[in-house]
Amino acid sequence: MKTNRKIVVLGANGKTGRKVAEILESRGEDVVRGSRQASPPFDWHQPEAWSKVLRGAERMYISYHPDLAVPGALEAIEKLVEVARAEGLQKLVLLSGKGEKEAELCEQVIINSGIDYTIVRASWFNQNFSESFFLPAILSGDVALPMAQAKVPYVDTDDIAAVVAKVLMEAEHNDQIYELTGPRLLTFQQVMEEIAVASGRSISFTPISLPAYISMLEDLRVEKDFIWLIQYLFTEVLLEPKNAMLSADIRKVLGRSPKDFRQFAKEQAALGTWTPQ
Ligand SMILES: NC(=O)c1ccc[n+]([C@@H]2O[C@H](COP(=O)([O-])OP(=O)(O)OC[C@H]3O[C@@H](n4cnc5c(N)ncnc54)[C@H](OP(=O)(O)O)[C@@H]3O)[C@@H](O)[C@H]2O)c1
Repeated sequence: MKTNRKIVVLGANGKTGRKVAEILESRGEDVVRGSRQASPPFDWHQPEAWSKVLRGAERMYISYHPDLAVPGALEAIEKLVEVARAEGLQKLVLLSGKGEKEAELCEQVIINSGIDYTIVRASWFNQNFSESFFLPAILSGDVALPMAQAKVPYVDTDDIAAVVAKVLMEAEHNDQIYELTGPRLLTFQQVMEEIAVASGRSISFTPISLPAYISMLEDLRVEKDFIWLIQYLFTEVLLEPKNAMLSADIRKVLGRSPKDFRQFAKEQAALGTWTPQ
């Protein structure tokens, strides 16, 4: 049976938002999918249309695009909070990034909004290797990346979505900041080894310098803004020692361990994600 409470999920076609929306809908919640394709549409570049999406809603999951670290994100979150207050929302859950100073400024806007909130600070997603920027190189069998020494506690978006769906609905998680990581630290080389074993493919990994990687992206005509973001993430986030730490917050919220990269790799290999067409 459907509840009569409306919950807005922003980024509802994205890596975490679509899973959050599915979980909530399976529990009978009335989900308003925030997407440029929805009706009414939600576009981060059209704040004048946001109140139509938020009207009548009680709670909201905020997944910003492309990243809370980019110029303009802080102003967008400030404006969103203003609209959320005007529309009477009672709970906000913000997806943030671990170790991003700019993202922490956005968190402060949510924390000082006067609305109940939970901040979910996630480490890099497993899904960056299955549905995002690392996938084409993996499919080619030849991966070259900088910061080969960096160790990352990759987290699965299944776990992020499960945490978000829970904290969004339960008051005991109000005013909390949760740090979500997977159970293991992995270098890029180890990630490629896991994917190669799971998919039965040969994937080579070559460590390269950041300038060489950037010029490779430029040759591939990757958008300038995206290159800026990659450069930021590879320097500010990957090199921050605090980010190479495991957190117990997924266990604290869900009462179970986070999904290991090996399990994720097995599931994706079975789906044919890394099988070239
Ligand atoms: N990826 C990671 O490892 C990671 C780690 C920690 C935190 N985060 C945070 O997670 C958030 C999402 O990042 P993501 O890269 O994983 O992306 P994502 O959730 O997969 O988001 C992609 C979605 O963004 C929507 N979108 C694109 N442009 C938009 C616009 N102008 N207005 C509204 N929606 C727009 C698109 O939906 P429609 O086409 O339906 O509009 C698309 O489905 C970011 O804030 C990031 O900082 C990511």
